[in-house]
Amino acid sequence: MIRRVEETAMSNPSGFPHYSDDFGRWVTTPDGDWTGGFWVGLLSLSYLETGREEFLNWAKEWMRKLRPRIRSETVFKCFLFYYGAAVIDLLFNEKEAADLAVEGARSLQALYNPSAGVIPLGREAEEASSVGLSETNIDSTVAVALLCYASEKTGDQRLRETGINHALANVRYCVRGDGSVIQSASFNTASGEPIRRYTHKGYGDNTIWGRAQAWAMLGLSQAVRWAPERGEFIEAARRVTEWWIKNVSGDYVAFWDFNDPRIPNALKDTSATSIAAASMLKLSRLLNEERYRDLAVRTLNSLSNYVTPVDGRDDRPPGMLTSGCYNRRIALATNNELVWGDYYLLESLLTLKGTIKPFI
Ligand code: GLY
Repeated sequence: MIRRVEETAMSNPSGFPHYSDDFGRWVTTPDGDWTGGFWVGLLSLSYLETGREEFLNWAKEWMRKLRPRIRSETVFKCFLFYYGAAVIDLLFNEKEAADLAVEGARSLQALYNPSAGVIPLGREAEEASSVGLSETNIDSTVAVALLCYASEKTGDQRLRETGINHALANVRYCVRGDGSVIQSASFNTASGEPIRRYTHKGYGDNTIWGRAQAWAMLGLSQAVRWAPERGEFIEAARRVTEWWIKNVSGDYVAFWDFNDPRIPNALKDTSATSIAAASMLKLSRLLNEERYRDLAVRTLNSLSNYVTPVDGRDDRPPGMLTSGCYNRRIALATNNELVWGDYYLLESLLTLKGTIKPFI
């Protein structure tokens, strides 16, 4: 995977790698869309593993290109400034990255709606359909990590409160009693009352989109890390994780939507699966739960069958995590390498290897 990162960086892409085509050629975005932070994250992890300075230089170069996104009205800039800046500081103690991450967190807080207790998607959110000030989705729960991190850096408690409230609101809106997750919700902007639950990218409004379940696992394991005193996060993190474990298919690699009637012939989503593996590793560490680690290892073993090999048996470049499903509804990159799938897989592997010491 590190060879894949290096070859991509050496090819000097004109924008941030987003997903790749059937030949492994990256489709890029000029401003990082919602995924640019994962490219920076892959470069940072590659530096951590190899110690080769060029990876850190690339990571910082690409991080700087995210700065203009501070102004964008989207909750998903939490991904940009957590993985694209805070993670560099957490791993390498880099002040420039910390400053950018804090700026990103403050700009995120400026989008917070205190009456509803949630950061809405925003009018520029990179989502498939309804966006704006009365919508939220579970994908954004990881904002809690960026906001709590920035609170620790600055001593500003409001950042932390905002992050915690946002995560709690997403649990209320999107997580069902049995632990299954519906991706999105509309709410009353004055009272925060939920109006409807629906999906942007799943099969249907009442089905469980694989990445919704996985983003909930990730956001809640981060919430447990950053707000360990809030028992409700521990309970919700266990609930969504147990649901995943009970419902994932026998080979541990999730179908793109748990309720697609075409199962067992439906598409898989390896990116949902790598997010879930990374989350189970975090939760096993936080709760000292060996079972989650075992399940993460089984999941990663299965995912390794989807990584292009180094021995030339595949025409594509080695180190790609294939079979991610970006957006089945609009037939966009439904069986492809996705940059965030790569990121969470590499993060998981380095976690297992013991390379990653701080919690990221
Ligand atoms: N909205 C983030 C995702 O597509 O997973």
